[in-house]
Amino acid sequence: MRKILIIGVGAGDPAQITIQAIEALNRADVFFIPDKGAEKSGLRQQRLKICDRYLKSAAHRFVEYKTPSRAKTPDYKADVAAWHEAIAATFEALFARELTEDQCGAFLVWGDPALYDSTLRIVETLHARGAVTFDYEIIPGISSVQALAAQHKIALNRIGEPVHITTGRKLRENVPENADSVVVMLDGEESFAALDDEDLEIFWGANIGCPEQALASGRLGDVKDRIKELRAKVRAAAGWVMDVYLLRKPMR
Ligand SMILES: C[S@@+](CC[C@H](N)C(=O)[O-])C[C@H]1O[C@@H](n2cnc3c(N)ncnc32)[C@H](O)[C@@H]1O
Repeated sequence: MRKILIIGVGAGDPAQITIQAIEALNRADVFFIPDKGAEKSGLRQQRLKICDRYLKSAAHRFVEYKTPSRAKTPDYKADVAAWHEAIAATFEALFARELTEDQCGAFLVWGDPALYDSTLRIVETLHARGAVTFDYEIIPGISSVQALAAQHKIALNRIGEPVHITTGRKLRENVPENADSVVVMLDGEESFAALDDEDLEIFWGANIGCPEQALASGRLGDVKDRIKELRAKVRAAAGWVMDVYLLRKPMR
C-alpha cells in the first residue's frame, strides 16, 4: 500500500531534526515540495537543504506542487474550509499520479506537524475518504515554540501554571485573561504593538535557527519599537520573516 510520511523537520535550524526524522527521510521515494510563491521560496530552500544534508542516496524524486491560495473574506472559517478542500484535491491527485502502490511519499513539515499546520488534517481527511488508498505516519519535530524557549533560556510556563498558545488574529480579538503565559504564532501584523498592557514581558524571536535570526526581550512598552525594526531587518535580509513570542505578566 502507498505510504505517506508527515515529517516534522524543525523550524529552521537543520541540526534540529530527530534521528527518527532522518530515518523517515531516507525511506521516502518522493518528496512533495510546496511552491508557495516568491516570499516563501526561502522556506523551500531550507527544506531542500535538509534533504541535501541527510539523504544518503539519490534514489528519490522531488515533486513540486502549487499550493492554492486562501480567499480572504470576513468569514475566516469558511475561507479555511474551502482552502483545505482545494489542497486536499491537489494532494489526492499527487498521491495517485506520483506514487505506485508500494511507494512512499513524504511531506517535510516546518516545526512540528501538530502545531498550526494543516498537512495532518488534510491527509487524515483523504485517508478517511478512501478514493486513493494509503497508510500514513507522523514523525514529530522541534517546533518554533521550543526553539524560542531554548534561545531565550526560559521555561514557557511558570511553576504549575498553564501556557496558552494562540495566533496573532486571536490575540487582536482579546488577550486571554486567565492565562499567565501566552505564546503567539502566525502574527504577520505585529499584534503585540497594539496591546494596552505595556507592562507585559515579551520574549520574541524571528527566523529562529536561520542565519538571520533575531531575538529581543523585555517590558513590552520598552521593546516593541525595537522588535518592529528587527522584524523589518530580518525580512529584508532573508526575503521572509516568521516570528513567535511569549507574553507573560510580570512577577509581583
Ligand atoms: C504555519 S505555522 C507552523 C508552525 C510549526 N508547525 C511549528 O511547529 O513551529 C507558522 C508559524 O510558526 C512560527 N514559526 C515557524 N518557524 C519559525 C521560526 N524559525 N522562527 C520564528 N517563528 C517561527 C511563526 O509564528 C509562524 O507564523
